Amino acid sequence: MRTQVGIVGAGPAGLTLARLLEVAGIESVVLENRSRDHVEQRIRAGVLEQGTVDLLTEAGVADRLHREGLVHHGIELQFDGERHRVPLSDLTGGSTIVIYGQTEVVKDLIQARLASGAPLYFEAEDVSVHELESERPSIRFRHDGGKHELECDVIAGCDGFHGICRETIPAGVLTAFSRDYPYGWLGILAAVAPSNEELVYAHHERGFALLSLRSLEFSRLYVQVDHDEDIREWPDDRIWEELHARLGLEGWNLAEGPVLEKGVTGMRSYVVEPMQYGRLYLAGDAAHIVPPTGAKGLNLAIHDVRTLAEALVEWYGSGSRAALDAYTATCLRRVWRAEHFSWWMTSMLHRDPGDDSFGLRLQLSQLRYVTSSPAAATSLAENYVGLGTL
Ligand code: FAD
Ligand code: DHB
Repeated sequence: MRTQVGIVGAGPAGLTLARLLEVAGIESVVLENRSRDHVEQRIRAGVLEQGTVDLLTEAGVADRLHREGLVHHGIELQFDGERHRVPLSDLTGGSTIVIYGQTEVVKDLIQARLASGAPLYFEAEDVSVHELESERPSIRFRHDGGKHELECDVIAGCDGFHGICRETIPAGVLTAFSRDYPYGWLGILAAVAPSNEELVYAHHERGFALLSLRSLEFSRLYVQVDHDEDIREWPDDRIWEELHARLGLEGWNLAEGPVLEKGVTGMRSYVVEPMQYGRLYLAGDAAHIVPPTGAKGLNLAIHDVRTLAEALVEWYGSGSRAALDAYTATCLRRVWRAEHFSWWMTSMLHRDPGDDSFGLRLQLSQLRYVTSSPAAATSLAENYVGLGTL
């Protein structure tokens, strides 16, 4: 088998890259080791930046997003028993965010790919990448009982944090930068109308909580827990009790509903440099992860593959490798901005079990500052909605 671009992973990064290449007339094959069902049901992010929405729109995969996505103009920060609105649109010349689940983005991309007839293999086994330094890198895998080798011009490693592409790069090439946090998020999807129109990020002495949503009928809620918290310790009643305690306000009620899904995610910041080796290009979580507090993970993944697709279009069109060679440097400017913003939001809003009362007062001072100073609020807002050029 032979293709132009071999793509490992059918998450948001791999599927969006495949779509952008298809629109530009460049062939690709997508290999995913999980089932279609698994990939479509995996609940993760929910906040799309304007730039992400624009890209999916240009790629012709945003009809349902425009019909069903909820446009938001602000978020709320809660601390010291009060809520403060950050008017994102007013502070950023009209930018908005759109609430539309990652599951839905992935479903739309898969549907478009299958409708076009372009190759996308689920349940590909033993995927491995080879000859990365050569002009003919290849991907070996098993599918439907047969062994296959896919020869490519380049390989895109879009296989997430636990994928094989990054691990295949020889020792000594990559430098990893990381930060661990002593906490994680327990997230639930509940069949109940959201109790607030906008997202609420709550700082509380018991720990952080977030009220979000997936639609006008489904709420998505998170509470800060330990990094390696055992979900079995959290029956639904305990989760609701904690949500009431952390999000509760005089005169406001958090509506409960059946819990459809729940899970714990440990939090970490991680970046590898460079994001490329020979003819392998890493994109999305394969190269970097952020703690979820800034809602940046999915948006960063989409930005990486936009950069990669543009560089590949230039290479195939003019033969120039300049943009491909600059791929790491171009991506890392945005990656590090998002790393900082995500670390900053996380540190401002979570209770660190090792922190003292001095740290707590610094957090509250920072929260008061970003909700009272237009300059500070604008900084939060422009990062949250996504910076244009960097
Ligand atoms: P992924 O979505 O991880 O996709 C990688 C794909 O590669 C997967 O489909 C995987 O099955 C496949 N794959 C892996 N190994 C192989 C292999 N060997 N061969 C073939 N395929 C392979 N971000 C937010 O902004 N807000 C959130 O609330 C949020 N919650 C999250 C919860 C969890 C549990 C996780 C893990 C992430 C969360 N994120 C969140 C981050 C966000 O979802 C990611 O940044 C986003 O999914 C990145 O997309 P990606 O395509 O790079 O990687
Ligand atoms: C959601 C996730 C986030 O990480 C975030 O910052 C806001 C909302 C969500 O899943 O809805």
